Amino acid sequence: MTDVSKQRLLLATRNAHKTREVREILGGDWEVEDLTARPDLPDVEETGATFEDNARLKAAVGSAHYDGWVLADDSGLEVDALGGAPGVRSARYAGDDADMAANRTLLLERLREVRGKERAGRFRCVLALAKGGEVVRVFHGTVEGVVTPSERGSGGFGYDALFVPEGACRTFAEMTGEQKHALSHRGRALVALGAYLTGGATA
Ligand code: IMP
Repeated sequence: MTDVSKQRLLLATRNAHKTREVREILGGDWEVEDLTARPDLPDVEETGATFEDNARLKAAVGSAHYDGWVLADDSGLEVDALGGAPGVRSARYAGDDADMAANRTLLLERLREVRGKERAGRFRCVLALAKGGEVVRVFHGTVEGVVTPSERGSGGFGYDALFVPEGACRTFAEMTGEQKHALSHRGRALVALGAYLTGGATA
């Protein structure tokens, strides 16, 4: 049921992990629903060359069909030794129908001969905020780190079990949600978004 004391936001995703993280990071003042509650809204093909292109596309299309703020998250892992791959193809690295276990296996395989600091990379998150079919603002968050030689930890999602952020010794999958969000690309982008929304933007 809609809580009228809260501001509403539609997250243009069917990825339940992203929705959970956005809810955890934005906190209780926001009622965040996602596309699983809106089967009437179209799925958008991610045809952009950059995270920002894709975030803008998803937010603009979603907001043309929704009365209020729409937020789209496009994110992924860039590994320097792989020329920035998997990048915008993070969700589909091992093929369009591949699951995340296959994507992680392929990443480890491609980095098999790469050692230590040469395994550096970053998670990037771009958030596009839109209303009435127009993107009004874009927020960026990144976290530098290294890809581990094997999976560690059972929390999180995606490539979390393979990524140790700079300054830490645990992977994101070995951290609590709170610990991950304090360091993560999504946490950083959402802090900027939260400041913008609470600083006077009206739905
Ligand atoms: P997209 O933004 O829907 O194109 O997919 C992003 C993909 O990047 C996800 O499916 C994950 O594989 C990966 N990814 C994005 N953010 C995270 C994260 O916080 N942890 C682990 N993997 C992530």
